Amino acid sequence: MILEEQINKDNLPKHLAIIMDGNGRWAKQQGMIRAFGHEKGTKSVRETVECCAKLGIENLTLYAFSTENWNRPKLEVDTLMNLLIKSLKKELKTLQKNEIRLNSIGNLSLLPTSAHKELLEVINKTKENKRMTLTLALSYGSREELVSAIKTICDKVKNNIISPESIDETIINQHLYTHNLPDVDLLIRTSGEHRISNFLLWQIAYAELFFTDVLWPDFREQHLYEAIISYQKRERRFGKTSEQIK
Ligand code: FPP
Repeated sequence: MILEEQINKDNLPKHLAIIMDGNGRWAKQQGMIRAFGHEKGTKSVRETVECCAKLGIENLTLYAFSTENWNRPKLEVDTLMNLLIKSLKKELKTLQKNEIRLNSIGNLSLLPTSAHKELLEVINKTKENKRMTLTLALSYGSREELVSAIKTICDKVKNNIISPESIDETIINQHLYTHNLPDVDLLIRTSGEHRISNFLLWQIAYAELFFTDVLWPDFREQHLYEAIISYQKRERRFGKTSEQIK
């Protein structure tokens, strides 16, 4: 068992991102419908958020709904949207208590009005919180994010707001949904799949990756500790040599 004391608080990922996967398979294992897995998954969301706040992780981003997820059966999409609304209503108190600011990335205009409204309300009510930023990726796709950034930059070039020569990594960063977030340091994916699935492709350029077979509804504090301990054992060289880092 890993104890909280074993985690070096001076070497935490500044930005942790999680691909929460395996809700459907978890439900199937229990002989239940997929919605049951999503419902259970919200418990893991709450525990993970509270644990990250307790540890002192400043930014947590959760892949809650991808652009591709719109292609799931309508019943499942409705279930996920209703769970989102229910969780937002229920967890506002927890967010305030833990001084967590809610943020969201993705093409939010595609969300049903009720979910969009609830989301904006909680974002607004928590906007002064400083301890941690919790970002929900909703209707999010990294390629769509890049296309939208490129279109905006092109518009600005066309209107002489920026020059083509000035386009650099900083300018691109400024036009992404994640413009107010640091790069991802650690990316966790649950459920044994070793894929990125169109999540934060630009932002994970130098992230450490951690894959676990645990299905998202079974993901507990211990699994998070395990991922962080693994992260802390790694040497992050950012293209330099080991000697240069030391
Ligand atoms: C992946 O499992 C999970 C999702 C598509 C959605 C994640 C949603 C939640 C954890 C619940 C609601 C979240 C919030 C923030 C309120 P899957 O369905 O792809 O599982 P499978 O690969 O086993 O089928």
